[in-house]
Parts: sequence; C-alpha cells; structure tokens
Amino acid sequence: MDQVAVIDVGSGFTKIGINSEQLPLKTFESAVNGHAYGREALKKGGVHKYVMEKGYWINFDTMNKYLDHIYKDEFVVRPDDYGVIMTESPSSQKNYREKLVKLMFEQYDVPYFYLARQDVLTALSAGKLTAAVLESGYGVTLASVIYEGYAINNLTHKLEIGAADVDDALMKILIEERGVVFATDSERYQVRLIKEKFCNVASQQSAFDSTDVTTDTFELPDGRVITIGDVEKYKPSELLFYPREFGFNSDGVHESLAQCINRSDEELRPWLYKNIICGGGNTAFSGIDTRLQNEISELSSTITVHVEAPVSRKYSAWIGAAMLSSLSTFEKMAMRRSQYDEVGEQLVHRVCFN
Ligand SMILES: Nc1ncnc2c1ncn2[C@@H]1O[C@H](COP(=O)(O)OP(=O)(O)OP(=O)(O)O)[C@@H](O)[C@H]1O
Ligand SMILES: [Mg+2]
Repeated sequence: MDQVAVIDVGSGFTKIGINSEQLPLKTFESAVNGHAYGREALKKGGVHKYVMEKGYWINFDTMNKYLDHIYKDEFVVRPDDYGVIMTESPSSQKNYREKLVKLMFEQYDVPYFYLARQDVLTALSAGKLTAAVLESGYGVTLASVIYEGYAINNLTHKLEIGAADVDDALMKILIEERGVVFATDSERYQVRLIKEKFCNVASQQSAFDSTDVTTDTFELPDGRVITIGDVEKYKPSELLFYPREFGFNSDGVHESLAQCINRSDEELRPWLYKNIICGGGNTAFSGIDTRLQNEISELSSTITVHVEAPVSRKYSAWIGAAMLSSLSTFEKMAMRRSQYDEVGEQLVHRVCFN
C-alpha cells in the first residue's frame, strides 16, 4: 500500500504528515512574510499574512508559493513518490480547486490526488460516516450534517467565529481585569499559550462575578507575572455559545447544530443528536462535550443528546484524511494522473464533492 502525503492547510495552522502516522509530523502557522514562513514569518518585522482567510486561499500566487514551501522545505518526501490528500472548506471556489489540481499533477507530478471537506474528515476521524459535526478552527466554525460519508450542503452552517476571536476575547479580559497590555505579535502569541494552558469550557453559562475559586499565574517572557482567575479561564470560550455577548452577529454553536439537525430528515434526527462530533483546535477546550450536550438538551428537551469530543480533536481533519487515504479503496477514489490527462482540471468537480 502506497503512502500518502496528508496536507491540512488551515486559516491559522498547517498540519502535514504521512497517512501511516497517527498524528501530523509538523504543525506550523499558515503565515508568510517575504521568504519567511510559519512562526518565523510572524516573528520577522514588517507585514505578514495568513495564506488562508476563513478557510479560503487569499490568492493564487500565495497558494502556489506556499505549497512550494511545504514541498521543498517542510516535507522530506519527493511529491512524485506520494499520492496526496488535502483538506478543504465547504463551498471552496471552483477556480481555486481547479488550479490546485493542475498544480498537483503538472507541477508536482503526483500519482493521485484527493480533496476532502474538513467536516466530513472530522466525522471519519471519530469512525462515523453519518454524524452531526461541529468543526471549529482558527478562522471559522462549521455546523454540518454528514450522511453516508458526504456533507449535505444545505445543512451546513458557517459561523464567522473562530479561535482567533477567542484569543481576542481573552486578550480583552486580561487588559480589563489585570491591566496587562499585549502590543506585539509575539505578545499575542503569549495570549494563545495562556488560552491553551488554562482555558476550559464551563458546564453552564455563569456570571463570572463571584470571587475566583482557583487562580494560577503565568510569567510573560519580559518577567511580568499575571494572575489567571476564573474569568480568564472560562469566559473566552463562552464566545462559542453566546457570540452576541461578544459583539458577533452569529448564533451559538449549539443553536446552529440544532438547526442543522432539525432541518434534516425526520428519521435521521435521533441518530444525529446522538452522534455529534467535535473537531478542530478551537474545540480542544476541556468540558466542551458536557457543555454542548447540556445546551443542546435544553433546546430539545425530549431527545437524547450525545456529544463526542475525541482526545486528538485538534487534529481531527488531518486524522480523518490520514484514515481515508489509508483505505484500500482510496487510490480508486482519488483523481489519477491518467484521468487528469483525459479530462483536465474539471475532473475535480466530478471526483471530489464539496
Ligand atoms: N488546548 C487548546 N485549547 C484551546 N484552543 C486550542 C488548544 N489547542 C489548540 N487550540 C487552538 O486551535 C486553533 C487552531 O485550530 P485549527 O488548527 O483547527 O485551525 P485551522 O485549521 O488553522 O483553521 P480553520 O480550520 O478555521 O481554517 C489555535 O488558535 C489554537 O490556539
Ligand atoms: Mg482546519
């Protein structure tokens, strides 16, 4: 069985590896700044940009340059030796999909190539072909219904909130509550570290006006020590459930999931409510499964709700892609070089459903 290169370029982080591995071999910021990439691009002065915005490539040139970087500098494999699977967002632009296929076959000479939706892959990562999925990354959040391995397009909700907004919420709290100001990009990076280390999801919405039950401290690189209390720990992730309270014109993830499920076939709904899968880095908070279950149960009190939050969910799309590309049927499922030569770029729309 051939090995497959698994590439998940996200709005915030790129995860790459080989399908025979359990986890990505490398994770780095999807950022570019002149000739610098990843963390280096953010550290270097001047203007950096993320190669994707809310799940979509910012332009052709950047896509081309970034994939070149991945192949030349990050992967230790020769692209023409490996089939490739890449993740994509729902409703990816047609011309970008075509361009990507052209690049893969003509520039990198890959033997076969497949594009798969992140939400479908997140369901697969939990071993499900039919499920309701909450996929939340750096830039966007999706609530989707996956049926027999395919996403039902009119049952996909895209929420314009993501981990970057949670970072902003935490930063605002630290300024307001503790008077700590984060001015530079590298200081913003510290906010992310604080979030990943200390933030959780509370089991229910609370007022955060009581005295802290537990406090921790965190030392910034410049020696400042900041106190992390309950408001820092629990409030930022409230943004997922009550974005309006943070100034976003968006439903909460629980409402969005319930709406998707309630618009699906009636016979399917009980299964979907019992098979809600969380994925993406912005669902890595502990307690998210319990809270989501509580909130959804409150919306539909007569139905049994079960939420699954797999341990490695921050890599769920990558893991799902590694699993899919390890199936014995994958090579047949993917676009092959010979098919591409015959059909051209349009092949992608026939083979990879989006
Ligand atoms: N333990 C953790 N707790 C909270 N957040 C976390 C944790 N670990 C990672 N994250 C967050 O996950 C985010 C990245 O998620 P992910 O890699 O799924 O996004 P992405 O794929 O780049 O974005 P998108 O899918 O929206 O295009 C980061 O902002 C990071 O801070
Ligand atoms: Mg992602």
